[in-house]
Amino acid sequence: MAAARDDLNPSPPSDNTCCHTSAGSSQVRHPLDPLDGGELSRAAAIINEAFAKTEPVRFERIEIAEPDKALLRYWKPGDAFDRQARFAIFRRGRIGVTEGVLSLDQGRILASRDLPAARPMIMLEEFLEVEQAVKADPRFIAACRRRGIDDVSMVCVDPWSAGSFDIPGEEGRRLSHTFSWLRTRPDSNYYAHPIEGVNAVVDIDSMEVLRVDDHYEGRDPLPVPMTRNEYDARFKERFTSSGKVLDIVQPDGPSFAVEGRRLRWMGWDVLVGFNSREGLILHDIGHSVDGARRKIMHRASIAEMVVPYGSPERAHYRKNVFDIGEYGLGKLANSLKLGCDCLGAIHYMDAWVNGIDGTPVKIENAICIHEEDQGLGWKHWDWRTDVAEVRRLRRLVISSISTVGNYEYASYWYLYQHGGIEFEMKATGIINTVGCEPGKPSKYGSEVMPGVMGQIHQHLFCARLDMEVDGPANSVVECNVVVPPLGAENPQGNVFYEEQTVLATEKAAARRANPATMRYWKIINPDTRNAVGKPTAYKLEPTHTVTTFTDPGSRSGQRGGFIYNHLWVTPFAPDERYPAGDYVNQSEGGLGLPQWTEADRPVENTDIVVWHVFGLHHPVRLEDFPVQPVVMCGFKLMPSGFFDRNPMIDDAPTRNAASCCV
Ligand code: CO
Repeated sequence: MAAARDDLNPSPPSDNTCCHTSAGSSQVRHPLDPLDGGELSRAAAIINEAFAKTEPVRFERIEIAEPDKALLRYWKPGDAFDRQARFAIFRRGRIGVTEGVLSLDQGRILASRDLPAARPMIMLEEFLEVEQAVKADPRFIAACRRRGIDDVSMVCVDPWSAGSFDIPGEEGRRLSHTFSWLRTRPDSNYYAHPIEGVNAVVDIDSMEVLRVDDHYEGRDPLPVPMTRNEYDARFKERFTSSGKVLDIVQPDGPSFAVEGRRLRWMGWDVLVGFNSREGLILHDIGHSVDGARRKIMHRASIAEMVVPYGSPERAHYRKNVFDIGEYGLGKLANSLKLGCDCLGAIHYMDAWVNGIDGTPVKIENAICIHEEDQGLGWKHWDWRTDVAEVRRLRRLVISSISTVGNYEYASYWYLYQHGGIEFEMKATGIINTVGCEPGKPSKYGSEVMPGVMGQIHQHLFCARLDMEVDGPANSVVECNVVVPPLGAENPQGNVFYEEQTVLATEKAAARRANPATMRYWKIINPDTRNAVGKPTAYKLEPTHTVTTFTDPGSRSGQRGGFIYNHLWVTPFAPDERYPAGDYVNQSEGGLGLPQWTEADRPVENTDIVVWHVFGLHHPVRLEDFPVQPVVMCGFKLMPSGFFDRNPMIDDAPTRNAASCCV
């Protein structure tokens, strides 16, 4: 499903000197460098030696076991360290996962345990197997025939995660619950042709089709809408102009430097990581002025996401997909194309993930690094002297794009000259389409073409931000605007001011956004003072919080309990990595953030992790089809008393010589 179709994208010029790729060197430069292909192979061999003597194992995940923070704090280039990997494996034919840690240097398993009820993610290699199993099933073939489809070879079956709904017959299995569409020719956009009301439940391990539910049994099924609606360039008879050439030219090269996975740019430095579940990870983010480095974050990633759909009709209530925990954004990362996905002077990094059989898979050019002009940085015109000072703003962009079934998730981390850090998720790809009677969509969606509906849904993301503002001991402060009632304290009605409250424990720090008080949160270092004697801080600006509607007591609500707060704060614990739990696929619920924070541990002036939930509310528009133009959501981390003045104040004035008047 995620396979890139190279033949469709124009090849970049072969002599292009703007593009540089980090060589796949097996030399590990830093303890946080992701595992490369050689290390993945070696890890798989160690696992096979230990666990596959009598029965083959399948590999859900092999990834770097990130070293202890204490080691990282004192590690210097050249220091020896034990290179370790985490793994999760499973066996065909029964549920359960064996997870553990191994040492690549010692060539042995260090620890492992069996989790008999856990289900591994749905693997890319299983996608097509599920489709084949469903299409071979006589009940499915009969349901298609009832809809006028005599030949199922053009039917596409998407392997959705099944969720956990206590449905008799589904217990104790690892499942996919499928939805289907029809191609009108072998390469057409099948999402224009939903086969409504036919869902199969497949045991992914045995590839047994447990059930085929025809929700139109005993009545006339909805006909499959057959009007084509293509996006693929090869089907287009004419194109509108894409405009004249727009080049991003950097004759002197970009202003960043790359050494291994370490990226340095205009005061910033960051180590770019990657794993199969979270995809892009930023480690050890620091900022230096005159050689004095100050740390801001230890680690940043998007650790989970869920996409709840609002329809109770037929089997659509089951759609509540955890695209990170159930599929893995890293595994489904694209190979990016120069001049298409990425414009300008680009540095690429490759990514390595494991295949289901343990074989390393290289995703070439998975991570794109470049600089962007961001328009005005600051300006002032002294109208008395007629002198104008102006500086432009740049940002460094670190990005990757993942395809999860019908949707694309494009992740962009930005570091700004003004000290800001921003994350932006651009969602694109194809909406999940559903059949309806032409002209009569149900109230749970909107029609995007006759007989084709997009249901209301949301995309909820959870960022895991291991903060280290000027060091590991941080606190979170909530800022709310207070307005005293008209009277002695507010005689003219103009009064408003900010009140700051330290969120001292996990329960106190489980918070929702509040636009009525302009609420935001500051991550402060209580022991480090700025020029005016206040704690140094970064503020989290919750720019895209979403009100959620899944009932918290429902199975889907319990499984994704992290969505009910926009902010969570936990004391750092190395095994608390995934906000809906480690094994999300068909999880029973109650795992992750809601479970951990029950302990109500102190989170004041200690090593904390800040979790921010944000997202997109998506009532589908006509314009979202046949492919959705990018819609964005994200958040900002802005310095707030971290620097003693505008950090761009000493930037030299520039005048871009390539600019011209037309
Ligand atoms: Co959407």
